[in-house]
Amino acid sequence: MIKDAAGIKNPMGRKLLAWYKHHQRSLPWRKTNDPYRIWISEIMLQQTQVNTVIPYYQRFIKSFPDVRTLAAATLQDVLKAWENMGYYSRARNIHAASRIIVNQWGGRIPDKFEEIKTIPGIGEYTAGAILSIAYRQCVPAVDGNVRRIMSRLFAIHKPVDDPREQKNLRDLAALLVPAKHPGEFNQGLMDLGATVCRAKNPDCSRCPLTGLCRAKLHNLQNILPITRKTPAILHRQAAAAIIRNSENLLLVVQRPASGLLASLWKLPGGFIEDVEKTGSLLRRNVKEELNISIRVGRCLASVDHAYSHFRLTLQAYECRLLKGDPEAMACQNWRWATSAQLKNLPMSNIDRKILAEIAKSSSLS
Ligand code: ADE
Repeated sequence: MIKDAAGIKNPMGRKLLAWYKHHQRSLPWRKTNDPYRIWISEIMLQQTQVNTVIPYYQRFIKSFPDVRTLAAATLQDVLKAWENMGYYSRARNIHAASRIIVNQWGGRIPDKFEEIKTIPGIGEYTAGAILSIAYRQCVPAVDGNVRRIMSRLFAIHKPVDDPREQKNLRDLAALLVPAKHPGEFNQGLMDLGATVCRAKNPDCSRCPLTGLCRAKLHNLQNILPITRKTPAILHRQAAAAIIRNSENLLLVVQRPASGLLASLWKLPGGFIEDVEKTGSLLRRNVKEELNISIRVGRCLASVDHAYSHFRLTLQAYECRLLKGDPEAMACQNWRWATSAQLKNLPMSNIDRKILAEIAKSSSLS
């Protein structure tokens, strides 16, 4: 039974740890418990992508296998090993820190939060990462990826880049860290953020926490997190109807000859000004476009697309044709199409994306 630090059952912890066991990325700093190596990896990962870090980390550990070797090296040697990775203050801090660790801490990286944070280059996040991964302490490691996950899991509509909110998100993450395997849990969140709960187009169909996620429940996964500048960019919502006939052909319409994306094909539907009323607005859009009545079911897919002056989230809903035969009302044309025929119709990027998502989810179900 996975419990949090207070001994309370923790289903998020349990699900994430089970997922991490099978889906974790194989990374060289995960093959060790050596606090020194974990420290070096965390500093390198502060501003650099995982794939870029790997060869630097391997070379660095070969040249400086322990803190005493690093402390005895010259700054020039350390900078040379860092060459091309950028953000060179990290290398200078690592070098200065290694001498502090040797001279003040007897060569052992401190294992107390307040102490480790006095080491140059180690802030709140890196302290949490080292303490949980190397020393198995039940503390969170909250970076931008984890803030995004928290914002979605709990459907938090406050800006994740606001310092007050960052404290709340850290407190929330702290409640979830399991007493056992805290390092795996924190790295599980890192992997989830990098591979599934991505900033753009999160892949909820592969997420171990999907059933516990409030953003997913309310179809907000493409809207959250918000930042302090979010309102400045107009974010529009659109809904599309997935209507199939008895032969499993999909109903598509051709846009009007003028206006946005003129004459391209798309799914029936349109802009939604109020997400709370998606169902009734989609029914109205489809009625205006094709003069048919539909029932709107569950949301099958959601994708995001950035246009030059607004961002669009398009959600596709499973629908049933209740009444009427399609007529080209507020569209140029309509047709029932097989997936092969859909490929040959000219369509915009976001319509292609939503069709791909739907194909993916229907092949899973
Ligand atoms: N980013 C920061 N720390 C990381 C870790 N330990 N594994 C993967 N990505 C990370």
